[in-house]
Amino acid sequence: MIRLAVFASGTGSNFQSIVENQISYKVVVLISDKINSYVIERAKKLNIPYAVFNPRDYDSKDNYELEILKTLLVHEVNYIALAGYMRLIGNILLNNYKDKIINIHPSLLPAFKGKDAIRQAVDYGVKVMGVTIHYVDFGIDTGNIIAQEAFAIKNNMTITEIEKKIHQIEHKLYPKILNNL
Ligand code: GRF
Repeated sequence: MIRLAVFASGTGSNFQSIVENQISYKVVVLISDKINSYVIERAKKLNIPYAVFNPRDYDSKDNYELEILKTLLVHEVNYIALAGYMRLIGNILLNNYKDKIINIHPSLLPAFKGKDAIRQAVDYGVKVMGVTIHYVDFGIDTGNIIAQEAFAIKNNMTITEIEKKIHQIEHKLYPKILNNL
């Protein structure tokens, strides 16, 4: 059985769908870098153990990740799913979870890497958008692609409608891929 840690910094709608659709994996802990993030409220409601690590409390990224690693080992985590975790994964976690860290990104990679991907795509005027699930490596949104799902942008679609569509896709696709690992 895959013992999954989900890393999230924000709202956590993907975290919730990953928890609610677990079949062949089990979410054993939520890791957040933001004490006031709504995802923590979701973890409490869903009865998932959680731990918060503020990077500012550590003098280096290595020490920050070493502390996270201790928690992952306590929970016997063997896979990590990033779901809106707004930090780059560093050496410690990448070396300890080689090819075991997965991310979801709201664009059709390699287009529109990094922050505000949806806004970048809308500003560019693309006619097709989508979601990518990929392995995490040392780059920003550069690891091997596991799955993608695309949709056509209808005329006059607002950014709110586009975001809603992206979330709908993400909430189905991410648990599906994790269940098939
Ligand atoms: C998602 O759109 C995901 O693709 C991106 O961050 C967003 C997180 O949303 N990496 P939520 O916190 O899961 O609602």
